[in-house]
Amino acid sequence: MSIPEVVKDPPFNITRASHVRYYVKDLDRSVEFYTEIFGFVVSAIENGIAYLRGTEESCHHSVVLMQNADKAGTSECIGMRVASEDDIHKAKAHFEAVGGTAEIVERPHQGLSLMTRFGEGFPPVELCSSMTVLTRTMNDFRSQKGGRVLRLDHYQCAVPDATLAVKRFMALGFRPSKYTLDEDTGKVLSIFLSRKNNPHDLVMAYAMGPRLHHVAFVVSDLQAMLRAADIAANMGYGRDVEHGPGRHGPPNGVFLYFRDPDGHRIEFILPPMQFMDPEDQPNTWSSTDGSSLVPWGNGPPQKWREQMTHFDGLEPAGGPLARWTSLTDPRHPQKT
Ligand SMILES: [Fe+2]
Repeated sequence: MSIPEVVKDPPFNITRASHVRYYVKDLDRSVEFYTEIFGFVVSAIENGIAYLRGTEESCHHSVVLMQNADKAGTSECIGMRVASEDDIHKAKAHFEAVGGTAEIVERPHQGLSLMTRFGEGFPPVELCSSMTVLTRTMNDFRSQKGGRVLRLDHYQCAVPDATLAVKRFMALGFRPSKYTLDEDTGKVLSIFLSRKNNPHDLVMAYAMGPRLHHVAFVVSDLQAMLRAADIAANMGYGRDVEHGPGRHGPPNGVFLYFRDPDGHRIEFILPPMQFMDPEDQPNTWSSTDGSSLVPWGNGPPQKWREQMTHFDGLEPAGGPLARWTSLTDPRHPQKT
């Protein structure tokens, strides 16, 4: 198939990926994990909910941890920012027009917000028009802990119909920076979609869904990444450093994946390349080109390919359990 044309005048203005809402079993334990290992800053803890932000983030939260033993290990939604309250109203009208759902929600420390869904198989996306602004801590070096995490960068979700998902989200103005097609069927296996000035806000991969594979945060350098891993080991979470460090090839992504105490997967990445000029073209990868996907080292462990966070109340369906073809796929070129 061919990827749709980029929509330059979308029905409303999404500006970036902004916040994730996770359910956790033990809030104290999770807050300790996120602050000591990753280096998140606590913006507020109230009513069994912790609001965390990275050291470079001035908006109130990029991670919301909600204590709930029954729902622990699931996510309520991923969040995106829009430019204004007017965009929330336009978004509501758009989702209702295309047969989706959109409901205004009350959120502490957020301006006008809207919970949206395109329907079965799609992740719930909360749109937010503004947040309370706090002081950045990036220059307060004495307070920084663990990986000194800077900011939220992107989500990766599994969806059972990646081709339809591409159509729905590109209609909202998302630009593709990279996509992978199945060499046999021509269908979309994965796509990197962007609204800000780098290659990804929302990555979607063909697999049983909707599920949330990971949320990625930017760290300053490799040393910050390794320091987080070392502290994870000190705190007894050494085996929860799941995959990496390694490189994804384009878009120059050095990565390290962690699992938090409830199994939510967090990716640390180094600052991504710029991707913003309208004439810039996406990379296209073949499903058999494992050497581009992970240029060196071994591929991810099987649990990385199969295990993902479910969205609360949404039973994943359609598609295979695991995303990506394996690097040990005999079709992948190997040195002989
Ligand atoms: Fe990622």
